[in-house]
Amino acid sequence: MTTTVSNDTASLLPSVSSFLSSPRQLLIDGEWVDAQDGRTFATLNPATEEELVQVAQGSAADVDRAVAAARRAFEAGSPWARMTPRERSHLLWRIGDLVEAHADELAQLEALDNGKRVEAARDGDVATTAELFRYFAGWATKIEGTTIPMSVPDRDFHAYTRREPIGVVAGIVPWNFPLLMAAFKIIPAITAGNTVILKPAEQTPLTALRLGELLLEAGVPAGVVNVVPGFGDTGAALVDHHGVDKVAFTGSTEVGKKIAAAASGNLKKVSLELGGKAPNIIFDDADIDAAIAGAVLGGYFNEGQCCVNGSRLYVHRAVFDEVVEGVANAARAIRVGSGFDPSTDMGPLVSQEQHEKVLGYIRSALADGAEVTAGSADRVGERGYFVQPTLITSVTEDMAVQTDEIFGPVVTAIPFDSEDEVVAAANNTVYGLAAGVWSKDIGRAHRVGGRLRAGTVWLNTWHADDVTLPRGGFKQSGWGRELGAFGLDDYTELKTVIAELR
Ligand code: NAI
Ligand code: MG
Repeated sequence: MTTTVSNDTASLLPSVSSFLSSPRQLLIDGEWVDAQDGRTFATLNPATEEELVQVAQGSAADVDRAVAAARRAFEAGSPWARMTPRERSHLLWRIGDLVEAHADELAQLEALDNGKRVEAARDGDVATTAELFRYFAGWATKIEGTTIPMSVPDRDFHAYTRREPIGVVAGIVPWNFPLLMAAFKIIPAITAGNTVILKPAEQTPLTALRLGELLLEAGVPAGVVNVVPGFGDTGAALVDHHGVDKVAFTGSTEVGKKIAAAASGNLKKVSLELGGKAPNIIFDDADIDAAIAGAVLGGYFNEGQCCVNGSRLYVHRAVFDEVVEGVANAARAIRVGSGFDPSTDMGPLVSQEQHEKVLGYIRSALADGAEVTAGSADRVGERGYFVQPTLITSVTEDMAVQTDEIFGPVVTAIPFDSEDEVVAAANNTVYGLAAGVWSKDIGRAHRVGGRLRAGTVWLNTWHADDVTLPRGGFKQSGWGRELGAFGLDDYTELKTVIAELR
């Protein structure tokens, strides 16, 4: 295990250095403006704990201005409302091309602000964002209704449905995939003709602000997408605002519950993508090498800061020792260091808060009598929020490390004997975002997958994904589904029109 916190800024693109050379502002009504009260906050580089740049901090007054701009942009007769679906489609495609053209720049900004590896940001976050714009470019012209027969004797009717935009959408996003989560909210919203106020996470506002510049460059009309960075109170001001018609949130289950309650003032539509604690079940008839590789990817991808990570391993007793040894060896071999060092496998966690939280969970496991088979409860290095990937065994179901979403590179492993027993244990959680099964018995894999209460189930794979696939949570993992054809439903109102043919 090595920790290299190299001089990140040595390899920065000129465009990135220039973006960081002056305080970043809010995007409201197509203009870059300071916060009304002039407040700013620092965003840090989690590998060095140094400030990257100051960012304008939106207050309730700025939220007010942004909502007013989004409302004007939405209203009938506005340039946005007059845009045809085909024009929206071409616009979305253009943005996808711009994102791709700026992929290296966006990837560096993301790696600086979040800590993840530059390559991971470019090949994952940024590439998927570009594809999302293109995928939804196709949908803009295909938001259709249906004609529905009526059975009224001796009268003639024509009844049909239309899908219309909801109005002003507030997107509130977390820090684990900053650009991609901004894209998850903005893209379906504008595909369907809504307008947006995006509130990036306070830890990682930079790529959303750079995306805001690219949206203007592509020709998105003023006020259609506004970007207002800030903390939880900025998000809360959006959720409270009666000029907002819908809130789309990704983040903690705790804040998701607050949002569901606060949105009731004007009965905003709400979609929520919340926490997870995914069970990853390995049967003794699995391809063990593939299952070990899947457990490592599923457990430690994105520094473990991923809501669909397989953080609870359940391994059949007959192969438990073999799987634990394989995962532990792989975890020990992961090189932790700066996301700008090409030899790094895993970067730092996003923030001091997250660093302390994750190390605290590892310490709590030790205090509860569990065993740290790989990794450690000690910080890695003097500076930066580094943690060694950790595997915990001798765990019981009541330990905090087993029940809570940790959101770091920490995996627990528990042995099981029977299918019924493991299904019950896997479902024994308030969460239901993702789950996985490893077995070469096709009947068993599908049968167990069918019994798992989760929005995404992976069979003999993990993190396999596509912009075409809907995602979201059962139970306290959320409301609604994002992406795919289903992803547009939550951004439209359904209108039924009944005409009598006289
Ligand atoms: P969080 O849920 O507090 O923050 C997510 C977003 O919500 C941020 O933009 C934040 O400013 C905003 N926010 C906070 N309070 C708000 C409020 N009252 N009204 C409206 N918006 C509000 O998550 P945080 O504190 O960054 O992370 C805490 C834990 O949450 C993590 O350790 C992890 O367990 C979980 N989490 C889960 C995520 C997921 O994708 N499922 C993403 C991020 C965090
Ligand atoms: Mg940062």
